[in-house]
Parts: sequence; C-alpha cells; structure tokens
Amino acid sequence: MAKRKEDKLRVAFIGAGGIAGTHMGYYKDMEDVEMVAASDLVAASVQRRCEEYEIPEAYPDYKKMLKQVKPDAVSVCTPNGLHAPCSIAALNAGAHVIVEKPLAMSAREGQKMLDAARKNRKKLVIGFQHRYEPRTQFIKKAVDNGELGKILYGRVQALRRRGIPNWGVFGRKDLQGGGPLIDIGVHVLEATHYVMGSPKPVAASGSTYTYIGDKKSNVLSQWPDWDHKSYTVEDLAVGQIRFDNGATLSIEASFAAHTEDQWNFTLMGEKGGATWQPTALVHDANDHMVSTKPDWLPSGPEANAFARKMRNFVDHVLYGQPTMAPGDHGLMVQKMLDGIYQSAEKGREVAIK
Ligand SMILES: NC(=O)c1ccc[n+]([C@@H]2O[C@H](COP(=O)([O-])OP(=O)(O)OC[C@H]3O[C@@H](n4cnc5c(N)ncnc54)[C@H](O)[C@@H]3O)[C@@H](O)[C@H]2O)c1
Repeated sequence: MAKRKEDKLRVAFIGAGGIAGTHMGYYKDMEDVEMVAASDLVAASVQRRCEEYEIPEAYPDYKKMLKQVKPDAVSVCTPNGLHAPCSIAALNAGAHVIVEKPLAMSAREGQKMLDAARKNRKKLVIGFQHRYEPRTQFIKKAVDNGELGKILYGRVQALRRRGIPNWGVFGRKDLQGGGPLIDIGVHVLEATHYVMGSPKPVAASGSTYTYIGDKKSNVLSQWPDWDHKSYTVEDLAVGQIRFDNGATLSIEASFAAHTEDQWNFTLMGEKGGATWQPTALVHDANDHMVSTKPDWLPSGPEANAFARKMRNFVDHVLYGQPTMAPGDHGLMVQKMLDGIYQSAEKGREVAIK
C-alpha cells in the first residue's frame, strides 16, 4: 500500500455538508489518502469540516480550489443540481471524481459528465453503496450462477410513511430534480438493477403525487417542520421500467405515504426468486418449494458498504482495480428516473434512448 506522501491520493471536496463528512470520516483512516482541501458556499460549514478532519485549506469557491490545489481526486457532495457542473469542472481540472448519488438531475447532464470523464481520461464513479452490501452480493452471486434462471421482474420499494427531510434542499425540484424517487428510490433501484445484471432500460411509465409535503402538518413524525412553502417535489412516485432483455421492474418511493415503511427489493426469475430483507432465495427442490437463507452474513466493519464504496474508489484510482459502480451504471439508473418523471408529466409510457 502506498504510504509515501508523494504516492498518496490527494483528495478535495466540493460540498462540505452531511455526506461530505461521511466521506471525510472514511478517507481519514486511509493511509494512502491525503485530504488537501474542501469547498462549500457556506464558509462556516467548510471551516468546521476542515477543522474536524484536519484539512488544511477551506474555499468558498470550488473553481478556485480546483485551480489552486489541483487535487488528484474530488468527492462531489453537493445537492443534486450541482453534481454535473462540479463533476465536469473537476474532471476538466484533471481530477478523478466520485459523485454522490444520483448521478445528476437528468440523464442529459449525466451524459455530459461521462463525456468529460472520457475526454479527460479520468475516472468517474457514482457513489452507489448498496451494491457493496453482503446481502446484495449474496443475491448477485446467485443470479450470476444462474440459480434464479432468467430474471423476469424486480420490485423496488423505498417507502417512508412520513419522512420528509427537514434540512437541506430535498423538497426543491429545481435544485434536486425530484423528491423521494431520485433521493431514496435511487438507492434500492441501483441495488436491484445491479443484481439484475444492469440490463438496458428501454421504456418507462409512472405517476407522481404531491398531497402532504406542500402543506403544514401537525402530525408527529421523526422530522417535523419541513419547509412546506418551498416543497415542489412529489410525496409518492410509482413507476415501471421495461428492459431490452424483456425483464420489467416496478418501483415505489415516498417521503410521505399512507403505508408502512419499506426498504426492500424482490426478484422473480424463471427458476427462482430472491428477497433482500429478510435475505433469502426461493426455489423448487426435491418436489418442494424451499427458501435458502444465508446462515451468516458479515456484520462487522467488513460489511460496511459505505466504507467499501470509498475504499473501492481509492483502489480504482490508485491501483487500477475495477470499480463496482462505474459512471455508466449511474447513467442507466438516471435514465430510469428521468423516464418515470417524464411519463408522469406526459401521462403515458415514454421510450428510453
Ligand atoms: N450515499 C448516500 O447514502 C447519501 C446520503 C445522503 C446524501 N447523499 C447525497 O449527497 C448529496 C449532498 O447531500 P447532503 O445530505 O450532504 O446535503 P447537505 O445539504 O448536508 O450538503 C450539501 C452541501 O453542499 C453545499 N453547496 C451548495 N452549493 C455549493 C457550491 N456551489 N459549491 C460548494 N458547495 C455547495 C451546501 O452549502 C451544503 O453544505 C446529495 O446529492 C445527496 O443525494 C448521499
């Protein structure tokens, strides 16, 4: 492992809010990473983060930081609307990029990010962590080994009964691109799409509904008093995707819906099926319907999916190891999100190109 100062990966940050703190926490323990600078529009935020993680330079302007610091790699941790401009600026400045989920606010923006990575011969990784989870890997191996046969259908659920963020800009469509579908649906969607073998999406249909978030509410919940006046995203999104291999996927995502909380996916294949939680494979054996559950899944630090995502990014950039979350996986997921939002607007199925 590279330990000499000159061999270390010099990492900088654009956005120094909540998730940037998580990135910093993992980089801090890596011997082959040096955190060199961070930027945030809010001077107090970036100052606090830099003090907390002993990062020597704080900038209010990320362009200035890129120019002066010339980092090897950048963690883009801004609201969704800035993922594309910040990632493209970092790639053009010669840095590799890990951008937080979702890839961007739209596939058009996402494509420009992939183009910038290719043009500059730099790596662009999408910060999807759920594919690194042991339970996801268990199901992925079963799919890859053919135990489920051809996958016909994936069901994705990221449902909060009442969980509208009361911080950040998560209720602002202009800054985020959407609500629960793009913010939390994307997590379970990326894991499901990955275990399905990342098939190419070709059509989408969907509906979105806003009926709670844009009004003041007295209902007691974990995150009360969100900014209902600036709330322009959906409370609930439902959609269906068709893939070029004939498989379909349905998704339900909510910040607020009259249902139980759910965070799960289900697969149905010709020979077997799978559920993420509780983790199980279902199939036929010895003339019976049976379930197979792993007797043990790692639960210690080695199971920390976020830690593995950060380590994989560094290994990919420094040592050329393959990434499990390349930018084009982010783009396919983005196309599905875009398709569902577009279909909801148009009131009909839309083609995905
Ligand atoms: N992978 C995960 O599990 C996970 C979890 C939470 C958030 N996220 C993603 O991370 C991103 C940020 O979310 P968050 O929870 O950290 O939000 P946050 O609001 O806590 O942080 C965002 C920060 O970006 C800063 N910012 C805004 N404009 C900027 C600019 N022009 N230059 C520099 N900084 C700027 C804000 O001031 C803020 O400090 C979102 O895209 C979100 O989807 C991912």
